[in-house]
Amino acid sequence: MRVLGIETSCDETSAAVLDGTGDDATLRSLVILSQDVHRIFGGVVPEIASRAHLTSIVPVVERALADAGVGEIDAVAVTNAPGLVGALLVGVSFAKAFSFARRVPVIGVHHMEGHLFATALEHRDAVPPFTALLVSGGHTLLLDVEAWGRYRLLGKTRDDAAGEAFDKVAKLLGLPYPGGPHVERLAATSDGGDFRFARPMVRRNQIPGDADFYDVSFSGLKTAVLTAVKSSNLDDSRAAIARAFQDAMIDTLVEKTTRAARQFGRPRVVLGGGVACNATLVAAMRERFEPRGVQVFAPSARLATDNAAMIARAGLFHLERGERSPLDLNAFSSQPIPGLVAA
Ligand code: KG4
Ligand code: ZN
Repeated sequence: MRVLGIETSCDETSAAVLDGTGDDATLRSLVILSQDVHRIFGGVVPEIASRAHLTSIVPVVERALADAGVGEIDAVAVTNAPGLVGALLVGVSFAKAFSFARRVPVIGVHHMEGHLFATALEHRDAVPPFTALLVSGGHTLLLDVEAWGRYRLLGKTRDDAAGEAFDKVAKLLGLPYPGGPHVERLAATSDGGDFRFARPMVRRNQIPGDADFYDVSFSGLKTAVLTAVKSSNLDDSRAAIARAFQDAMIDTLVEKTTRAARQFGRPRVVLGGGVACNATLVAAMRERFEPRGVQVFAPSARLATDNAAMIARAGLFHLERGERSPLDLNAFSSQPIPGLVAA
């Protein structure tokens, strides 16, 4: 089956063509147009994002179809939740029109389910069962993935998402948006000096039934960074604060992921979302897990951040199960991942 994927949930207009069946599908094309304009404002401006999607969606899809070099498309998969509603609506409206005009089925895809599938497009073995850590600008989810379509939500953030914390800390340090890569680069130049921040929601005596056993929280860490910034000469301590922040964030994520993998005895850990671009995080995960015989998989930067390839792949999974969305498919700012059960 040839699936056209479309992703417009935030500030990337993306289209991709996937060809084949299940985990054997091949990516024929992937086009990602990032909206640079938001840098000026230090964050995504929803109305500007929607208008930019409107301008780009047709050429982006045409480019993806041309690059794929395949004839007919058999189905179209589109992100319809969660995200900015105006931005999502551009992709959803386009996909429905494409479906109607070409007489092919349309399937709505949950953006975070897409992130779960991203790594499998590059690594044959990044398939269930696995422990998943999804760390993006909008979400931080720790999941047990027993099979595709069977997800157990173990933990999430109580406040800021991991990427959001990177972005806010970058702002406090006077670094550009999006801040994650800038914080990582700066952190690599320091050992943290005298700065050390508490690891949020990590205590030795926590047990699996505790509400905070898997959950994370980064607002306190952000406040600790703010206090450090205010009480020091930033030019001297910028890199050390970046390092101390990143160390606390990574230690927390590695510890929570370890608890999940151990509890469910999973042989693999799969990372996803923009923060999975952080090479220091990936290295720390490998250092923790590889001695225990657990493999760690992370997508390349292109598939870690928002892209339509992962949407096409998740869509293919649902299409192969015979699922279709009706032509009144709508966009939703938030919605649970299909197949998700509580811990
Ligand atoms: O998944 P994504 O592209 O968009 C959302 O769905 O939110 O993730 C974007 C987030 C941003 O917060 C960005 O700062 C973060 O990913 N990010 C990083 C790195 N590269 C991107 N965070 C830490 N280290 C990085 N190298
Ligand atoms: Zn995302």
